[in-house]
Amino acid sequence: MDRLLGKTAVITGAGSGIGRASALKFASEGAAVAVTDIVAESALAVAEEVRSAGGTAVGFRVDVADDEALKELVDRPVREFGRLDIRFNNALTTAAGKKKRDVDFLEFDPAVFQEIVQVNVLGGVVAAKYALPHMLERGNGCILFTSSTSSLGGDVAQFSYGASKAMVNWYVQTIATVYGKRGIRCNAVVPGVIETPAMKAWASPEMNAAFMALQNVPRLGRPEDIANLACILASDEAEFMNGALYKCDGGMTAPLPFAQLQRDFLLPRHAGASTTS
Ligand SMILES: NC(=O)c1ccc[n+]([C@@H]2O[C@H](COP(=O)([O-])OP(=O)(O)OC[C@H]3O[C@@H](n4cnc5c(N)ncnc54)[C@H](O)[C@@H]3O)[C@@H](O)[C@H]2O)c1
Repeated sequence: MDRLLGKTAVITGAGSGIGRASALKFASEGAAVAVTDIVAESALAVAEEVRSAGGTAVGFRVDVADDEALKELVDRPVREFGRLDIRFNNALTTAAGKKKRDVDFLEFDPAVFQEIVQVNVLGGVVAAKYALPHMLERGNGCILFTSSTSSLGGDVAQFSYGASKAMVNWYVQTIATVYGKRGIRCNAVVPGVIETPAMKAWASPEMNAAFMALQNVPRLGRPEDIANLACILASDEAEFMNGALYKCDGGMTAPLPFAQLQRDFLLPRHAGASTTS
């Protein structure tokens, strides 16, 4: 497969989950991939996995909260591969404590908000700022962000996480608006519940069953589902797609809020009516 043949990509948070699956997918489609993560060993291990599968990859540590390190996200791939075509901003701060402190709005902690925004939003937006001059010079470039269905509506928890992903959506549309006519495409993948190490750390078997009940496909999401979507968006097949937010959530957010109510109350009533008439 050669969807990304001749292209080069840099992926953040690529030592695990969706980022790792994307590194493997992009490389299997012909891209040379810079695999980056805050955990150096994970980045190196995934780069090695890519090479073992016959792909081209370099792995190195980048903390997306570190402004200087973000410059390396452009400089290193250009040094190693000659250019940068695809920037995939995917890293997520997973510090367990932060999630716990993000569940009661009356205890909303601005420090947690700032930490989450630093990684989830600024980590990608500032990295895009550094990548853009290089891409604009060539009149071509693809910037991807990983958003979340948490950004699409109100919630009872994750007040900082959901807000950070809503900010991501705004920047995706704005970068496309400012630079689209000059050859830059900026889009977001919007995952639902995906079985990654991050998700497995907090979801119990009961929660998995509840997610299955909400979804409208008969299995949980896999990192590869998002990697496949990201790969299409990164390829020239997606030339006409810009500034868009692409859900990949097993149909979880497709129904109207009252569809379940119809299922529970109205449909049984109609069924009853047809059997008695
Ligand atoms: N898994 C899901 O259900 C789900 C749902 C919606 C959105 N997402 C989004 O998908 C993306 C990937 O999440 P995942 O589930 O694969 O998580 P994951 O924990 O498996 O991977 C995240 C990676 O980011 C790295 N990371 C953490 N802080 C970093 C930093 N400061 N700099 C660089 N790397 C850093 C971690 O070391 C880890 O390897 C995130 O943006 C997340 O918000 C995931």
